[in-house]
Amino acid sequence: MSAHWLAPSILSADFARLGEEVDAVVAGGADLIHFDVMDNHYVPNLTIGPPVCAALHKRGVKVPIDVHLMVRPVDALVPEFARAGAGFITFHPEASEHVDRTIGLIREHGCRPGLALNPATPLDWLDYTLEKLDLVLVMSVNPGFGGQQFIPGALRKLEQVRRRIEASGRAVRLEVDGGVKVENIQTCARAGADTFVAGSAIFGSADYAATLRAMRAELAGA
Ligand code: DX5
Ligand code: ZN
Repeated sequence: MSAHWLAPSILSADFARLGEEVDAVVAGGADLIHFDVMDNHYVPNLTIGPPVCAALHKRGVKVPIDVHLMVRPVDALVPEFARAGAGFITFHPEASEHVDRTIGLIREHGCRPGLALNPATPLDWLDYTLEKLDLVLVMSVNPGFGGQQFIPGALRKLEQVRRRIEASGRAVRLEVDGGVKVENIQTCARAGADTFVAGSAIFGSADYAATLRAMRAELAGA
């Protein structure tokens, strides 16, 4: 399996100081910046959009921006986030009218496509898409808010997706998102995750770099 990647979610950052917050987690060893986009329609919360992504990109953030779209519809935002400097663009299949078309659109715009699976979303969505994806995101909470409790059923799903990725022979990242902390990150890695989103666990801690180091140490023992 490829190296573990840590993806702090800026949903729990201090938005009034967003640039500095991002710089701090990148300096502390973040591999990606996880960027949660919510539309108060697909999910009951409203966050940030392409101008904020563009501002971070312009600031010169040195790691890829991992855009997680919790919006419906999806397609119109793809070119906008591509222009705003997104690296990965991940969306929820239930939110797109034509999932294969959306994956193609993300690729055509030079970004890396990901598919996000909610706690109750079956793996069947991967049957005809995995060969075109660069990332599968397993939600370990229901999307919409930071700071929720990890849903243990996500572990079995991670194991199942990991088996599918291995069978595909492709280098697809397996990301887990929601309720990930120092205490459970090793369990997630053992279940097959290689990319770890953590919002409140990092930005809610007193020392971001120390928390990232503690996560890294747990992963080294996985
Ligand atoms: C939830 C978002 C997550 C969120 C995770 O809908 O997709 O990325 O920021 O926050 P924590 O790590 O606090 O559960
Ligand atoms: Zn997310």
